[in-house]
Amino acid sequence: MTADPDTLRSDWTRRISEAGDASALEALRVAALGKAGEVTALLKTMGSLSPEERQERGPKIHSLREAVTAAIAMRKSDLEGADLDRRLTSERIDLSLPSREAPKGSVHPVSQVMDELAEIFGDMGFAVAEGPEIEDDWHNFTALNIPEAHPARAMQDTFYIAGRDDLVLRTHTSPVQIRTMMKAGAPLRIIAPGRVYRSDSDATHTPMFHQIEGLVIDRGIHMGHLKWTLETFLKAFFERDDVQIRIFPSYFPFTEPSADVQVGWSWEKGRRVIGGADHWMEVAGSGMVHPNVLRNCGLDPEEWQGFAFGCGIDRLAMLKYGMSDLRAFFDGDLRWMKHYGFRFLDVPTLSGGVGA
Ligand code: DAH
Repeated sequence: MTADPDTLRSDWTRRISEAGDASALEALRVAALGKAGEVTALLKTMGSLSPEERQERGPKIHSLREAVTAAIAMRKSDLEGADLDRRLTSERIDLSLPSREAPKGSVHPVSQVMDELAEIFGDMGFAVAEGPEIEDDWHNFTALNIPEAHPARAMQDTFYIAGRDDLVLRTHTSPVQIRTMMKAGAPLRIIAPGRVYRSDSDATHTPMFHQIEGLVIDRGIHMGHLKWTLETFLKAFFERDDVQIRIFPSYFPFTEPSADVQVGWSWEKGRRVIGGADHWMEVAGSGMVHPNVLRNCGLDPEEWQGFAFGCGIDRLAMLKYGMSDLRAFFDGDLRWMKHYGFRFLDVPTLSGGVGA
């Protein structure tokens, strides 16, 4: 005596719809559709039916299996939905509750200024490039057209890695120029902010400090592009339209011609502020990338030209945010950080004011 598929169908769908949780449902699934399940057993009888019986019972048995499968899926999603609802009500967070412990950290002015620089130059189409702080002699000096006997290589300025006379702590961000040109070729437009090291220490020098390098390589680049770029950058950075710059002949082995960049400043209510043209101070070294440097990086100087500049980031931070002693930048004194640091949500944007 075999069970009637229609009876089984209403029986199973009812039991499934009453399953109280996922494991009860799973037990029902096994009992109905598992290897030794009741529905499975019924399906197995199909082979022994006569053709007439099969025509009559076959569709009923198949629709029984489909109905049970569908009922299980539906109950499963209902149970999951109920579970989610329960968690949503029981695991509620009261967002209006004031936090008892306000976050204490703050963003160091140097990090803040780096973010500002990335924002300003990003808007002018510059990408941010990086290089290692432990640099080899070739990238730090030779490729930059700094000959063996150049004073910049002298031991008193450069930190060498103990036991390795071919490795140094990079003395400037200029080796990133070399790495980027060799990797990306031309044209390119990058800034490279980062830590640099020199054996030097007083109120305005620390053995580790920060520079930002700028490099543009393209066809037909000239000093006018350099001047516009620096002027636009300084105006955006100091958030004043009256920022003026002057450019003087200078010397760097990796640029020809080379130029020192000065920015005008004046006294305002007893404070030095950038803007106007009463006084001048140096802010950057710059110039047109030397043909030897281009050649060292596999670029043809007849086809490609470029300008580059290098600028002290700590100095920019001091000028903008009014610190006077560079050494305090790296003392890790929490009182100093509390006074000069930035809230971590003060992300600089051009529209919001890069001064945050
Ligand atoms: N690397 C130089 C330094 O550390 C700064 C510098 C000068 C970078 C001129 C440049 C440049 O890219 O064109 O003093």
